[in-house]
Amino acid sequence: MKYGIILLLFIGLSQLHAQDNISKKRIVPGELWNDSRGNPINAHGGGVLFYNEIYYWYGTHKTPGLSETNHADGGIHCYASNDLTIWYDMGRVLYLNDDERHDLFNECNFDRPKVIFNAKTGNFVAFFKLYLKGHGSETGYVGVAVSKSPLGPFNYSHKFLGGNSPNGSGDFAMFQEENGDLYHLTVRKPDKAFVVGKMNDEYLMPEGKYLVCQGILEKTEAPAIVKRNGVYHLLASGSSGWSPNAARYYTSTSLTGPWEYHGNPCSGTNSGNGLGSDKTYGGQSTFILKVHGHTNAYVAMFDINKPENPYESLHIWLPVDIRDNKFYIQWLDNWDLDIFK
Ligand code: DGJ
Repeated sequence: MKYGIILLLFIGLSQLHAQDNISKKRIVPGELWNDSRGNPINAHGGGVLFYNEIYYWYGTHKTPGLSETNHADGGIHCYASNDLTIWYDMGRVLYLNDDERHDLFNECNFDRPKVIFNAKTGNFVAFFKLYLKGHGSETGYVGVAVSKSPLGPFNYSHKFLGGNSPNGSGDFAMFQEENGDLYHLTVRKPDKAFVVGKMNDEYLMPEGKYLVCQGILEKTEAPAIVKRNGVYHLLASGSSGWSPNAARYYTSTSLTGPWEYHGNPCSGTNSGNGLGSDKTYGGQSTFILKVHGHTNAYVAMFDINKPENPYESLHIWLPVDIRDNKFYIQWLDNWDLDIFK
């Protein structure tokens, strides 16, 4: 059944794709990005899963017209693409609810979802930053939801406190090794140290102790991580709420470090808002996407957060330039995937 849906989706995407206008295939960072039906892509603080030749973009659904303080978060929205430029709306794959006693009551704070496929269990596992209703951000949970299909529905399973801390943790990245081992890298609360812990085989709970990642500056948020030729590359931000700050970039041959700090990998200026690399073009990192079918092809994904109306938040996708095995990100007004050829 699951494979039937995916096959149909793949055929459907290919046919629709063939009819699409070639001009749509340019990525325009920092401008409104519409899905194939002309609606703004409503997936914020998200990430991309590549599964069976299809890319799935998952992010937080934001309710139009509501601010962050008025609980704009509305669960996980999913889009699918086979070319990374034209995205088909697959709908919401996880909803919040109106039960005040439930962890996912619609007044919780639900941020930065990431979905990972567990080949051992056949489950798609969604992780998200979860602050319970009325509890502020002093204690941060990781929420976990599970689905048998990339298209959901994701059923809420449980929450856990990361970092072996009673206050849990904040922004995070999930990093999956080639052998399937999964790691939770996060900023621990309350001391804001950057830590890493291994998840159990089911990807449901951390197992064992979290360790501090040596060499990572305190208050490093918005982490995104990939591994290339045995080296981990970590892109992140500083800590200034919803306001942009300068990006941070580190490399290491071990997740626990020592991590080498390379400063800000960004350069250039967003011609739309005039913001340069000191403010990450107005954005904050959320994910590094590996482009399949190419070697050394990575896309850095950022959000331009608009806390007054996050539905209008914008996406910045920029290609990663690799020189001397280091990642660099240069502002481009528009670009296409031929850049990786
Ligand atoms: C910083 C995080 O990186 C954002 O995703 C968001 O949670 C803000 N904090 C909220 O202040």
